[in-house]
Amino acid sequence: MALYAIGDLHLHFQSELKAREQLKGRLWKNHEEKFQKNCAKLLTAEDTLILAGDHSWGRNLEECEQDFAYIEALPGRKILTRGNHDMFWDAAKTERLNERFEGRLSFLQNNYFPYGDWAIVGTKGFTFEGPFYLNRRGQIVGWDEAAEERAKKLVARELERLRVSFEAAKADGYDKFIMILHYPPTSILERESGFTRMAKEYGASQVIYGHCHGETRFFDSLQGEVDGITYRLVSGDFLRWRPEKILD
Ligand SMILES: [Fe+2]
Ligand SMILES: [Fe+2]
Repeated sequence: MALYAIGDLHLHFQSELKAREQLKGRLWKNHEEKFQKNCAKLLTAEDTLILAGDHSWGRNLEECEQDFAYIEALPGRKILTRGNHDMFWDAAKTERLNERFEGRLSFLQNNYFPYGDWAIVGTKGFTFEGPFYLNRRGQIVGWDEAAEERAKKLVARELERLRVSFEAAKADGYDKFIMILHYPPTSILERESGFTRMAKEYGASQVIYGHCHGETRFFDSLQGEVDGITYRLVSGDFLRWRPEKILD
């Protein structure tokens, strides 16, 4: 039994055109096939796979049907968090999603899922992504402050949701946590944030996140051990479509 994670499958079995415009390059060529093969090699039915958001380009559940069928057919149990592109997922209606996909897919939002004596907690998260103003040498000399204010509100809302998830697990007696986000835990301006502080507060062992695509973005946030917590970027292109082992 092992726990694996990856994010940002950006499936598009029913929305070919949009995907082709957005994610280009060698790594994205037949990425569904590469990922499926890696899962078949690595995972068994006893394993759990965390999918850290940006599952599908579909705009609603109907447009995601084939993408979900692909995910369901992967080996093991699947736990999904929300990404910024997951239009099918209304945060307030997560319970309905869990009912609809019961026994097939688990949706993580204002709840938690057990893995042995660990609790998997999480939310979409949010981080300020600019616009930043650069000088001729590419150094940041300022940013859009109104956008930063809006980002602060979204971060606060996501932190509330994350706390609900931690508290639900704690109320059931869990004290070992794996924390999942879609957005990176810190912006490029930060070394810590409300998300890193909450991970510390509850004693999370690992923080897993996705969202960062392309070589210029892979190191936007924390990676490796910081203050006793292991941070891991698991976006599919960063992992070259090979799910990362989180726990044995
Ligand atoms: Fe993504
Ligand atoms: Fe994303």
